[in-house]
Amino acid sequence: MAAILKLSLLYLTSIFAFLHFLHNQISQQLLITHDNHKVRLKKNPDLPLRFRHDGAFKILQVADMHYGMGMITRCRDVMSCEFEFCSDLNTTRFLRRMIEDEKPNFIAFTGDNIFGTSTTDAAESLIKAFGPAMESGLPWAAVLGNHDQESTMNREELMYFISLMDYSVAQTNPAKVSMTENIDGFGNYDLNVYGPLGSHLANSSLLNLFFLDSGDREIVQGVRTYGWIKESQLRWLHRVSEGLQVWKTEFSCSN
Ligand SMILES: *[C@@H]1O[C@H](CO)[C@@H](O)[C@H](O)[C@H]1NC(C)=O
Ligand SMILES: *[C@@H]1O[C@H](CO)[C@@H](O)[C@H](O)[C@H]1NC(C)=O
Repeated sequence: MAAILKLSLLYLTSIFAFLHFLHNQISQQLLITHDNHKVRLKKNPDLPLRFRHDGAFKILQVADMHYGMGMITRCRDVMSCEFEFCSDLNTTRFLRRMIEDEKPNFIAFTGDNIFGTSTTDAAESLIKAFGPAMESGLPWAAVLGNHDQESTMNREELMYFISLMDYSVAQTNPAKVSMTENIDGFGNYDLNVYGPLGSHLANSSLLNLFFLDSGDREIVQGVRTYGWIKESQLRWLHRVSEGLQVWKTEFSCSN
């Protein structure tokens, strides 16, 4: 009897040890989580974004990954003989290869990153979809398409989550928009790209990248259609852009 009890205890202990291990492994993948009161903070890339010394700033743009749950999500629109051997992991491998071969300075994901009908957990899909970007340690950003919000997160939650992922420089919305000024959508922000470190343009923003939320779907006069960029977003874009033009004029006059 005692021997059986000891064995069961040993058995239970090993199960608990395994669960604890699993919990730690899973928590490691999360962005900000508390695990024995330890918080793992988001990893940030070297900022600001900068042109290379050869004058290039290479952007890898990735759209329509339509990521689901990884290995278990089959490819669409492939020949029937390819179906069995094609999953989201092909997208992952392709993205890894593109990053390795092209060595971009920045990655821009421009919507339909994940696909509602293929996923039961938006957070898990986002972690998998942007996995290669996070592994690369390169700065990256994303906006949403019309399919991203179709599973367990709305557009605001998605952008907030994306902004907290490792090496992401995405923002939910510009921090400087005042309380009285409303901006439509989630995922409106701009990023400045500076001159190469050590050059005479090291402290100058040479390129401004605007990201705008073009919405998902809308019903206009009873007709289902896609969303669009709204006046409030254009006002913000013009204001930021004009601010930069003034600054550029001053800059070129004083030089
Ligand atoms: C998907 O990846 C597997 C494994 O590398 C490969 O055998 C298959 O041909 C790929 N499918 C497509 C459609 O590219
Ligand atoms: C850029 O700013 C840094 C810190 O203020 C300064 O030390 C450096 O001289 C500046 N470089 C140029 C090219 O203006």
